[in-house]
Amino acid sequence: MQVSRNKVVVLATGGTIAGTAADPRDNIGYRAAQLGIAELLAAVPALQGLPLVAEQVAQIDSKDMSFDIWRTLALRCGHWLAQDDVCGLVITHGTDTLEETAFFLQSVLAPAKAVVLTCAMRPATALVPDGPQNLVDAVAVASTPGARGVVAVCAGTIHGAFDVAKQHTWRLDAFSSGDAGPIGYVEEGAVRRLRDWPGRDGDRPLGLDELSGVLRWPRVEIVMSHAGAGRAVVDALVAQGVDGLVVAATGNGTVHHELELALRQAQAGGIKVLRATRCAQGRILAHPDNALPEAGALSPVKARVRLMLELLRRPLRSRAPASPGR
Ligand code: SIN
Repeated sequence: MQVSRNKVVVLATGGTIAGTAADPRDNIGYRAAQLGIAELLAAVPALQGLPLVAEQVAQIDSKDMSFDIWRTLALRCGHWLAQDDVCGLVITHGTDTLEETAFFLQSVLAPAKAVVLTCAMRPATALVPDGPQNLVDAVAVASTPGARGVVAVCAGTIHGAFDVAKQHTWRLDAFSSGDAGPIGYVEEGAVRRLRDWPGRDGDRPLGLDELSGVLRWPRVEIVMSHAGAGRAVVDALVAQGVDGLVVAATGNGTVHHELELALRQAQAGGIKVLRATRCAQGRILAHPDNALPEAGALSPVKARVRLMLELLRRPLRSRAPASPGR
């Protein structure tokens, strides 16, 4: 018997979209992650009668995102994506670390169906909240035949997991895909696509089975190259047993010479180092003379996720336990 594939599963993690404020005019003095997903969906008339299933996976302000929540989320995505009657998933998420979660999920799932992260810049109690329209748009994308990969939908724009980045502190259209450009737009419920959905980027770093068995998350820290940068932070992290370091480098991946020396020494000592650019646009163009590998177009926070996943594929060096469940 043919199963109709039209169900959308909404996995909730909290964020401003589920936030409340005492005063409806207050768009910034609110608490994120206060309303459950059933309540949020029930408040959107355009979603009533649709074949939606809702599940509360977490209830946090996304600044507090942890590896353990990422793992739970990835496993729940894996579960639902495997159901024949499910056409796609929507994840409600805070805007602050949405791009990191999107990149993590695309890296570990590279799904053949759409996984659509959505969010809001104003709390659910605002005079004019943006969450309900974002939810409706996200469900439209998740239901679009042929849609696949992890994307973010905010303010009518569809961004791919590799490119999406929060670029504004308070505007409703807070995300950008930089010079890659958005994947498309949602226009009155229809998707207008400009380029392909996100696909697999290299080898899948690790499967869901391996992810569920992780006992210790690698500790990967970000250090920044800036005027007057020195080696003290790297030395302190090395002394603490860090597993990997991402340097938020200037321009096309350049690093202050004192910091670079410390990073080269850390690398020679077996610590994985990756250079990502501080620039909001563009990618690091590789040069054979550079001793520290570059992260291409990945921002420092996404490069950190990549390095962490890379380290999970190989046995971590025996050091003092780092970041249990962080
Ligand atoms: C959060 O990231 O959870 C709070 C901020 C937001 O969603 O805009």
